[in-house]
Amino acid sequence: MANTGIIRAIKSFVQRRPFLTLILLLAFFVGFLFINIEVLHFTSSPQFCAKCHPKEGTGPLTEVYTWKKNIHSQQGVSCLDCHGRPGFFYYMKAKIKGLSDLYNFAVKGKEHMIEVLQKSINDPVYASQVVSMESCLYCHTDYYNQKYRKERIMTLAGITFRALDNIKNPQYRMSKNMIDIMREDVRSNPDIDPKHAAHIRADISCVFCHRGVAHSGELISYVSKDATNLEKVCTSCHLNNKDIISMRDIVLSKAGNPAKFSHNFHLQMFECSTCHPSLFKMKAGTSAISFETHFKDVYCFTCHGENKAASFDCALCHQGR
Ligand code: HEC
Ligand code: HEC
Ligand code: HEC
Ligand code: HEC
Ligand code: HEC
Ligand code: HEC
Ligand code: HEC
Ligand code: HEC
Repeated sequence: MANTGIIRAIKSFVQRRPFLTLILLLAFFVGFLFINIEVLHFTSSPQFCAKCHPKEGTGPLTEVYTWKKNIHSQQGVSCLDCHGRPGFFYYMKAKIKGLSDLYNFAVKGKEHMIEVLQKSINDPVYASQVVSMESCLYCHTDYYNQKYRKERIMTLAGITFRALDNIKNPQYRMSKNMIDIMREDVRSNPDIDPKHAAHIRADISCVFCHRGVAHSGELISYVSKDATNLEKVCTSCHLNNKDIISMRDIVLSKAGNPAKFSHNFHLQMFECSTCHPSLFKMKAGTSAISFETHFKDVYCFTCHGENKAASFDCALCHQGR
């Protein structure tokens, strides 16, 4: 039979030229690996994504275009650096998710696709699943970068698949002149302390506050770009869930007998905008309250005072130590 003929021919070739066989096998194997890695690389590139996400402007299908206009693309942060959790296996998982998108594209069509993309733009809960906060934490903090690097396989035999694989903090962060968001004050807005660490501890995704961080069409999409936007973002959780979400008391103290302020208590009566930013900055220790200010219509004493709505009993605020 023809088959046995071929097998016999191969056998005799292998016996006569064992070294050449080995080299050929190796070359084949390396070539196979190379092609696969090239396919992985190519299908991760923004040019590839643009085949199905091709539009200009803002809104669904403009993701490659808006990314190009964003600070992240300018700093070499690519699609799968955000849309895929850190670690080799999560990279592969993101690739498999890509295959299912390909399937959906072929089977369910463009209408369905736009519907899904629109959902991610409108619904913060859905958006927080489209991009894991692990990736954001990986670049923007030291703690999580080191934690994930220690716990996970980052590269396979030294091959890197995306920029993320090689990023080590604090080196990367410092080379980009970025703060560690868990430990340092934000520089872009000195009037606000967004309490990054407290929200990270509570497992609140970055996306809840930083909507459109890569796809708003702006270079940097500031949360606090105006008071109304900030108010909207913060109240979406803090007022609507004020009985569940607890804020620690703030001790406003210069010396002596420090005064205590409770957000939890005041939020039973007031909205953020009653006090922020007109009476107080959203940052502890920024109010210059002296004994004289106790008798003016400023700070706490807009409400607390003799003949005012709220009590002026010294011990109410100065509770002693
Ligand atoms: C063959 C067309 C196609 C290509 C190429 C493509 N996508 Fe998509 N993408 C889709 C479809 C279809 C959806 C809607 C998914 C669904 O039906 O759940 C989608 C949705 C998404 C979503 C939203 C995820 C979700 O589940 O809501 C992200 C993020 C995304 N794509 C990123 C990418 C990235 C990054 C690339 C390039 C590496 C890429 N896409 C390449 C077709 C494609
Ligand atoms: C691969 C690393 C990396 C990932 C992943 C990443 N970023 Fe960034 N981010 C950067 C770099 C680099 C800059 C640019 C810093 C600069 O030039 O000031 C930046 C800038 C920013 C800025 C603007 C900072 C400023 O100075 O005002 C915000 C906000 C931000 N990122 C949030 C996020 C969020 C949210 C995520 C997750 C969805 C994320 N980043 C994912 C690296 C990353
Ligand atoms: C509670 C809302 C909130 C959450 C949650 C949040 N941020 Fe922020 N973040 C802000 C605000 C407000 C600012 C101030 C600048 C602005 O308005 O965008 C800021 C600023 C930043 C900056 C700029 C730092 C600088 O030096 O100015 C980065 C980077 C950033 N955030 C990253 C993240 C990342 C990464 C996450 C998720 C791990 C996250 N943030 C979660 C509200 C938030
Ligand atoms: C800095 C991190 C970051 C990078 C880089 C990034 N994205 Fe996104 N992407 C997000 C976030 C966060 C969302 C969630 C929705 C939102 O807030 O805009 C999102 C949403 C999406 C969606 C859902 C539809 C939409 O418009 O919201 C698609 C599709 C998408 N990204 C594709 C891409 C592609 C393609 C690239 C590369 C060209 C890319 N993303 C790069 C963070 C990123
Ligand atoms: C997605 C929901 C959500 C959003 C949006 C949100 N927060 Fe929070 N916030 C929380 C949760 C949950 C906690 C943690 C409560 C706890 O630790 O028990 C918290 C805690 C806080 C605390 C108390 C921190 C501490 O140490 O006690 C402050 C201050 C705060 N948030 C301010 C803000 C500001 C400012 C914004 C808008 C920029 C905002 N939050 C947006 C959910 C949210
Ligand atoms: C009755 C007045 C009042 C209301 C209402 C109020 N705050 Fe405050 N807030 C303060 C005071 C006072 C401080 C401390 C200012 C200081 O120390 O100088 C503060 C500080 C903050 C800080 C900085 C916290 C820190 O530890 O640095 C954040 C963030 C904040 N508020 C968010 C909010 C949010 C979000 C709401 C609405 C859900 C809100 N506040 C409602 C009075 C108020
Ligand atoms: C927008 C008006 C308003 C502002 C501003 C305000 N308060 Fe109050 N506060 C009230 C009202 C109303 C009550 C409840 C009535 C009362 O106890 O007299 C109250 C109650 C209190 C209480 C008693 C309840 C508790 O938490 O134990 C303390 C203490 C207090 N405020 C401290 C402060 C401090 C400190 C400041 C400034 C940093 C401040 N308040 C700013 C309106 C305000
Ligand atoms: C509504 C809350 C509130 C009430 C009521 C109040 N204080 Fe204060 N007081 C503060 C705050 C806030 C500060 C500034 C933070 C600090 O130094 O503890 C302050 C600071 C002070 C200071 C230090 C000022 C400085 O320059 O260092 C003195 C003294 C003082 N209060 C005395 C009083 C006396 C006396 C009363 C009663 C007549 C009183 N306070 C009632 C909130 C209050």
